[in-house]
Amino acid sequence: MTRFTVNGQPVHYRMDPETPLLWALRDASNLTGTKYGCGTGHCGACTVHIDGNAVRSCQVSIAAIEGSFVTTIEALSRDRSHPVQQAWVAEQVPQCGYCQSGMIMAAAALLARKGNPTDAEIDSAITNICRCGTYPRIREAIRRAGR
Ligand code: FES
Repeated sequence: MTRFTVNGQPVHYRMDPETPLLWALRDASNLTGTKYGCGTGHCGACTVHIDGNAVRSCQVSIAAIEGSFVTTIEALSRDRSHPVQQAWVAEQVPQCGYCQSGMIMAAAALLARKGNPTDAEIDSAITNICRCGTYPRIREAIRRAGR
């Protein structure tokens, strides 16, 4: 049995310990805001926070994060939209939207450790893939949220 915290709630998953966190979140916790894109750690659609760091949940087994604190897009902000989510709306970032929860989680982790990042810092921290090519609006939204 693997124990850690998801969105402030303790979880005890009775699953193969090697199960990727992505599938535990989606299938056992019904937290489907975390998306499956590639399953190989490249696209970033599955990004969540583990102990405050942006992590690709398809690449982390539930056994590896025993005792950790996981946050998903569903709990990025408890009472109202997170500033990153507000900036995403203001800049009308999404096109198809599929990758955006991972993008927002990556952006929120970046801004938590580096307010007002430069374009170079944004580009180096946000390596998620958007097949619609919304990158200019993503950058602008991160700049807005960082102000
Ligand atoms: Fe995890 Fe693509 S689904 S990086």
